[in-house]
Amino acid sequence: MAQFKAAIIGCGGRGRSHARGYSRSDDVDIVACADPMEENAKRLAEEYGVPKTYADHKEMLAAEKPDIVSVTVWPHMHLDFIRDAVEAGAKGIHAEKPMAPTWEECRETHRLATENNVVTTFCHQRRFGARFVKARDLVNEGVIGDILRYEGYCPNMYDWGTHWFDMFFWYNNDEPAESVLAQVHSEPKPRSVFGVDLEAQGVSVVSYKNGRKGLVITGIGGGGCDNRIIGTNGVIEVIAHQDPPLRYISSKTNGWAQPDLSGIMADRDDTTCSVLDLVDCLKSGEEPRLSVRKALQATELIFATYHSARIRKRVDLPLQPGDNAFHAMLEEGVYA
Ligand SMILES: NC(=O)c1ccc[n+]([C@@H]2O[C@H](COP(=O)([O-])OP(=O)(O)OC[C@H]3O[C@@H](n4cnc5c(N)ncnc54)[C@H](O)[C@@H]3O)[C@@H](O)[C@H]2O)c1
Repeated sequence: MAQFKAAIIGCGGRGRSHARGYSRSDDVDIVACADPMEENAKRLAEEYGVPKTYADHKEMLAAEKPDIVSVTVWPHMHLDFIRDAVEAGAKGIHAEKPMAPTWEECRETHRLATENNVVTTFCHQRRFGARFVKARDLVNEGVIGDILRYEGYCPNMYDWGTHWFDMFFWYNNDEPAESVLAQVHSEPKPRSVFGVDLEAQGVSVVSYKNGRKGLVITGIGGGGCDNRIIGTNGVIEVIAHQDPPLRYISSKTNGWAQPDLSGIMADRDDTTCSVLDLVDCLKSGEEPRLSVRKALQATELIFATYHSARIRKRVDLPLQPGDNAFHAMLEEGVYA
């Protein structure tokens, strides 16, 4: 028997991705998975040789007493299910992003995890992606000079933006942010992603304590890449699902240079790396690369963005109001 028993709550796409990760570890047996949609639970169980399925996650937690729990359901269930896993005695929890639909729930999640010493991670798995790892190396090697700004383009600040706010911290070696100035637009009937209403278009400018800036642009049009990092002596572009996935140009290159990414996590996907890192950190006691602390700092920028749009001023961190200001504005009829 392996050292750790893992159980998965929510057997959709991400539940199966987490299962793939555990299946790569000799230290973990997936003992059970839970989903009220029986066909989803059975599909995961069959694909990964999981011996038991449950319709009810609380029943599963009580019966199986797992060491590690994956919470791979939609965001409004994250806090309650994380609390259930903590109360059931889990030592580690790997949850999906975004943390939760309101800032208060996110702070509560962080409190629950830290006060109960449960090693908790959120799947901002791009911290393991080869192009993002290499981009950060290039930043730290100074190939584009001193860093001025990180840019990210995506559909919305929350479901997608959480990754870019996290990536900016990654590129910035987790140096803290100090303020956010932003604006967002919504159609009268907003788009909903994984059950959460989101803006149609927005812009958010983050200031970091080390003087660097972050710029997230959401909605209409794109920036021609996912992330652009601008330095005093050049530019790095990170481009997902396209070739080349990473390129940079500086006064020292002859046109665009394409760094070699082979060998960086080449034999495993980003989510598998995130799962294996949590398992390693449970053994070593080190802070995981995707720790709840780091997830919280990225998530604060989402809710600070919405709060800045609401008050039409810069928000100096730490963010105080615990609500989701975008949802509050929808309820007030701001976008009607
Ligand atoms: N990290 C990433 O890049 C990434 C990518 C896609 C989605 N996500 C996030 O992952 C989460 C899940 O997304 P998904 O694509 O797997 O969604 P999904 O709809 O494919 O799967 C969710 C599963 O949860 C199940 N479920 C619903 N209520 C439940 C309950 N009470 N108990 C147990 N299971 C329940 C559903 O039946 C479904 O099988 C979301 O928070 C989403 O934002 C992350």
